[in-house]
Amino acid sequence: MARTTAPDAHNSLDARSPVDAHSPLDNLDTFEAVIAADGRIEPRDAMPDDYRRALVRQMSQHANSEIIGMQPEGNWITRAPSLARKAILMAKVQDEAGHGLYLYAAAETLGTSRAEMTEALLAGKARYSSIFNYPTPTWADIGAIGWLVDGAAICNQVPLCRASYGPYARAMVRICKEESFHQRQGFEILLTLSRGTDEQHEMAQQAVDRWYAPSLMMFGPPDADSPNSAKSMAWNIKRFSNDELRQRFIDMLVPQAKALGLTLPDPDLRWNAERGHHDHGDLDWDEFAAVLRGEGQCNAQRMAHRQAAFDEGAWVREAATAHAARAAQSRKSQEAATEESAA
Ligand code: 3HC
Repeated sequence: MARTTAPDAHNSLDARSPVDAHSPLDNLDTFEAVIAADGRIEPRDAMPDDYRRALVRQMSQHANSEIIGMQPEGNWITRAPSLARKAILMAKVQDEAGHGLYLYAAAETLGTSRAEMTEALLAGKARYSSIFNYPTPTWADIGAIGWLVDGAAICNQVPLCRASYGPYARAMVRICKEESFHQRQGFEILLTLSRGTDEQHEMAQQAVDRWYAPSLMMFGPPDADSPNSAKSMAWNIKRFSNDELRQRFIDMLVPQAKALGLTLPDPDLRWNAERGHHDHGDLDWDEFAAVLRGEGQCNAQRMAHRQAAFDEGAWVREAATAHAARAAQSRKSQEAATEESAA
């Protein structure tokens, strides 16, 4: 029983296929058939344990990234150079919190609770993106994050709108729409600075120099060193390899950098007519490995801040739990009273 979804329906919010709109797949042969037909897997479907684990690993890493990713920019909300800039930045940081919540909720449909995912993050057992371990010393860094980091996120995440797992793919549609706005606000910050005074132009250039290589590392290690790619691609979770997406991003950035009047800090960057792509220099994969080991410039600070925010939020979680228990109790009493009066 192979179910497929029309290709354009993958990208439409209206194309939600509610879990109960079909009978759940009840065995792994039908799972394989749906994957082979490029169909969607839904929460109640039978699925291999490895598929479930791969999704929870990637989705929780992604959700954690959105939440930790609020920190480098949150740090500039009170210092943004105008009221309008503050309001825009605050909205953007709130969007990231929302993305984290969509993704934790989508991952919960696989049977791992948000509390478990948060615990794993705080215990250092779950990852978040390397990119958020770099500092934001100037206002221009906020522009560079929007242009490069959100730009890389869009490049990586638009194909995830066609991921085989329904809740993940549907969450990604909305996230990508918001990321497009984020990318444009970053571009606009850099454009304003680039066209400003010499000092402002220099500040924009230095921020791009700081964020360019780390943003290319967001796509993950080179394909030859990517242990998860083969399976993720066979299961239609990832649609393109890490290197393919990185190349696509570089090709996209070159004309945008020209429009900004800024330079990409790679002396080996040049158009290769034969390949139809830009050649580029090597990245510092030792630095990437160090950041993943927790030895980046801001790893300790990011985790300490997340732990403090979690601890300070304990009373909110307790209050929400108490409120939910009281509401359930009062619903129960009302139902009992209704039944009694009907009897
Ligand atoms: N930062 C931290 N860890 C990374 C990483 C990065 N940039 N790139 C790869 N890794 C980790 C992987 O998680 C994996 O470790 P694990 O097995 O313990 O999970 C290991 O390095 C090997 O990498 P693989 O290439 O084998 O891993 P994947 O196949 O999962 O590919 C990925 C990595 C491309 C990042 C993929 O997981 C992915 O597409 N994830 C969804 C997108 C995402 O997580 N984005 C986070 C960016 S932040 C963001 O989007 C916020 C926005 O507001 C900017």
